[in-house]
Amino acid sequence: MNGRAYPYRGFMLDVARHYMPVADILRFIDVAAACGMNRFHWHLTDDQGWRVEIRRYPKLTEIGSRRGESHFGRVSKTENNDGFYTQEEVRQVVAHCAGRGIQVVPELEVPGHASAMLAAYPEYGCGVGAGEKPHEYRVITAPGVYPNLICAGKDAAIRFLEDILDELLAMFPGPEVHIGGDEALKLHWRRCPDCQARIRAEGLKDEEELQRWLVLKIGDYLARRGRQAIVWNESLAGGMLPGHFIVQHWRGNDAETAAFMAAGGRVIRSDVEHYYLDYAYAATDPHGIWAAELPDYAKGHEEGLIGAECPLWTERVTNTPRAAELLLPRMPAVALTLNGKDYPDWEAFRDALRRIREQTAPLGLDWADEALWRLEGDAREADRAADEDLKRSPECDAALEEVRRMMEQDEREARGEFGMRN
Ligand code: ACM
Ligand code: ZN
Repeated sequence: MNGRAYPYRGFMLDVARHYMPVADILRFIDVAAACGMNRFHWHLTDDQGWRVEIRRYPKLTEIGSRRGESHFGRVSKTENNDGFYTQEEVRQVVAHCAGRGIQVVPELEVPGHASAMLAAYPEYGCGVGAGEKPHEYRVITAPGVYPNLICAGKDAAIRFLEDILDELLAMFPGPEVHIGGDEALKLHWRRCPDCQARIRAEGLKDEEELQRWLVLKIGDYLARRGRQAIVWNESLAGGMLPGHFIVQHWRGNDAETAAFMAAGGRVIRSDVEHYYLDYAYAATDPHGIWAAELPDYAKGHEEGLIGAECPLWTERVTNTPRAAELLLPRMPAVALTLNGKDYPDWEAFRDALRRIREQTAPLGLDWADEALWRLEGDAREADRAADEDLKRSPECDAALEEVRRMMEQDEREARGEFGMRN
């Protein structure tokens, strides 16, 4: 990536899995600004929490921002599980960013990762077949992916999303809005009379095409209001998206992303191997970030690669010191690969990171020890083992076993081993 100045230089904070106080978000934004980033992607909604005040739908935060004791592995069960940002606080963050050349990209997850939303407003989830028990939703207290999707068959559910977007657009003036599109298990959609009626009425092939239909609808709603939708790359599974969409590539489906780029589409790079900052340093160290080559899906379409973003997912990040240890120096390292400067060797790159550390020291955030900046051999193995250990607890293991069962069922049904359609 070195040597080219990219227009999109971002980092992401997941405040749904664990809430982060505004004052700490502002400190990370200050570091991002110091190293030349220009986007803060704020992951505000997920299965485990709804974190932004929406005045028209107060239950989103009354119900969706609280979950109580949680089980994400060998981490605190109680720290920063609950909380949300008022519209006043959001405006404070947006203004802080604006003063530093950073646009804020809010994320509203559609159609999946919607458990907290549906715990508050179950009427916008899917229906069930005759004689079956209605779906029950709650704010999730473990990691994983779930079939709790917004119902694509109900016009009222789409209006609900548009109402939420109207309030988000008023709070976030930036050019892009992220609408998710990742990890949506289709178990409910396949059984929902309304979703199946929509598939028939719109002449769609299956639930992947239904997701594309919904994403297009929401993306067009944004485009008419002068904004561009960003989606995670799974949203290409239902077919090509028009050029006003931006795709954020994180894993899998390289061929779909390559085809989107070949058609002139714009892509943000967030490959898990180099940019996922919840991963251990053993998987993604600053040296690896410096050395990252152009991904295959972008080769031949370099102009469509508009930049990169490093997400910090927070299932196992319950507080700010841990977030700092994972973000610093890796977030600055990502920024340095996007700024158009060429660092001829690792030492020059490392020295640039040290300068940012010095410059931002007054913020009081502790950076990861330099031993983690370039991990090799036994040290890499030890770091990997410690991270694996963090993922395990009996309650978390049990929850993930159930998630695995649902994912396998979803895959079987996607292959056509499903006798109940229509
Ligand atoms: C993702 O990591 N689910 C985009
Ligand atoms: Zn439905």
